Amino acid sequence: MEKIYRDADVSLAPLEGKLVAVIGYGIQGKAQAANMRDSGVRVIIGTRPPEESRSRAEAEADGFEVMSIAEATRRADVLSIQLADPAQPSLYRAEIAPNLAAGKTLCFCHGFNVLYGQIDPPRDVNVVLFVPNAPGRFVREKYEKGEGVYGCVSVDNDATGNALEIALALARAVGSTRAGVVELSFREETEGDNYEEQVLYGGVIQLMRLTYRIMVENGYPPSFAYAKAIRSLRSVVDVMDEVGIEEYISRRSSRTCEYAVRTRGPRVINEEEMRKIFEETERGEFAKEWMGEWALGMPMLHRMRRTGRASDMEQTGRRWREEFGK
Ligand SMILES: NC(=O)c1ccc[n+]([C@@H]2O[C@H](COP(=O)([O-])OP(=O)(O)OC[C@H]3O[C@@H](n4cnc5c(N)ncnc54)[C@H](OP(=O)(O)O)[C@@H]3O)[C@@H](O)[C@H]2O)c1
Repeated sequence: MEKIYRDADVSLAPLEGKLVAVIGYGIQGKAQAANMRDSGVRVIIGTRPPEESRSRAEAEADGFEVMSIAEATRRADVLSIQLADPAQPSLYRAEIAPNLAAGKTLCFCHGFNVLYGQIDPPRDVNVVLFVPNAPGRFVREKYEKGEGVYGCVSVDNDATGNALEIALALARAVGSTRAGVVELSFREETEGDNYEEQVLYGGVIQLMRLTYRIMVENGYPPSFAYAKAIRSLRSVVDVMDEVGIEEYISRRSSRTCEYAVRTRGPRVINEEEMRKIFEETERGEFAKEWMGEWALGMPMLHRMRRTGRASDMEQTGRRWREEFGK
């Protein structure tokens, strides 16, 4: 049985008298910094210089002491790395690595760069991971309600002998031990996340696009196809998460829907392809491909973005939100 860490199992003591620098003030950084501060932790923010940073002014407006990444690294005992993943290696080499000292802790929010050797910290610093399983806004909203989001922690290098306790204390300060936190390896967190992104996000978005396209190609009004392809999913996912899939399909949807789900769902989804993607992820093939695309300046991604933005479905979506509300 996996060990689940809750508030009662975790102490904030490893952070007492310590200074935590949140490096990067984006989607996760902003939320985690606010939660930690409200939990009584001393927090400073490190960002890119004012002329480059999109979030520095916001961090200052939120009342934080903001400085360069290099200065925050020098001052803090614990660094919570909240930069976008592809931006981390070069900023780490330029600003963080030269200012690290023995006994400091680097806490990542995704294991990718450490697992795939893009960041290779010295052996005398702790290297840990804490990931709340939700977008930043949700991490903050839950915390403000006295709740938290499920999360995971991991230790890649324990230089001080209490790296796990530090990671758990960070998880507690952000509110995750209110819900429950489990321990994973860097590999499990990274590959699990990459697998989810490919099959779940990739699959659901492709399902939405094809649902829309096939209906429109067959003469349905675009607004109706759009409502079916996207809007109807919104409430349904929340209910399934709250009551469970079986309760939803057998008691809270129509019998026609239940029959459709049980007989056609497996026809739509290609299980063999999902398993192949899982194996490719485990072999590091997805990571290698993505790092290659990033190194080239993301030419394929930019092309695909342009096509996606210009698509009929996107235009319909814009009109839809104006006509019928968000
Ligand atoms: N998004 C989520 O909800 C979520 C969930 C779980 C885990 N995570 C993990 O949390 C970490 C932070 O992710 P995030 O989504 O919060 O990141 P983000 O908001 O996309 O970016 C965070 C900061 O990174 C800097 N940045 C972005 N693009 C850059 C670029 N091209 N070059 C240099 N700096 C750049 C920006 O700094 P400036 O503001 O200074 O410009 C930005 O504020 C990642 O490790 C991610 O995997 C995120």
